[in-house]
Amino acid sequence: MPDDKIQLKILKESEFDPASSQQKKSGWPKQAFHVSHLREEDFKTDGFRGWALSRDLGMAKATGGMVEAHVNRRARPFDPDAVSKRHFHDTQFQMVYVLTGWMRIEFEGQEHLMKPGSCWLQPPMIKHTVLGFSDDLELLEMIIPAQYDTVNLNEQSGIAPDPRR
Ligand SMILES: [Fe+2]
Repeated sequence: MPDDKIQLKILKESEFDPASSQQKKSGWPKQAFHVSHLREEDFKTDGFRGWALSRDLGMAKATGGMVEAHVNRRARPFDPDAVSKRHFHDTQFQMVYVLTGWMRIEFEGQEHLMKPGSCWLQPPMIKHTVLGFSDDLELLEMIIPAQYDTVNLNEQSGIAPDPRR
């Protein structure tokens, strides 16, 4: 696929060959239709990072474990001792979109201020550190695959039951 030109074609049903569909090419498990509506009670701590509240959007189950999607909020004010640990994620794809608030984050030595509407791709294993965030920060995050490891740099390893952020 060209880097900068994506062509969206519209076909008649008779022109479409299900045998060469994107679903067939992907090799992904069959996906189930799934919808998740906003419920405040669905924002929960993941048991690992007490400073984050996460609302699971149910995509991991609906995609057979291919995609993780969640909305994250902050459970408490920014504390650099708890949050600012340099790390990377062993993923295939990770995209983050700021819904509300702001976040300062360092990627490979470059600092960025992310604001509402900021959207970024975190390539696999890119090293980063969260340097600050507002109390009202809310992020939408999508990750492939749903199950992945987080690697803390300059720290001992530990068991992270549900590593996010
Ligand atoms: Fe991270």
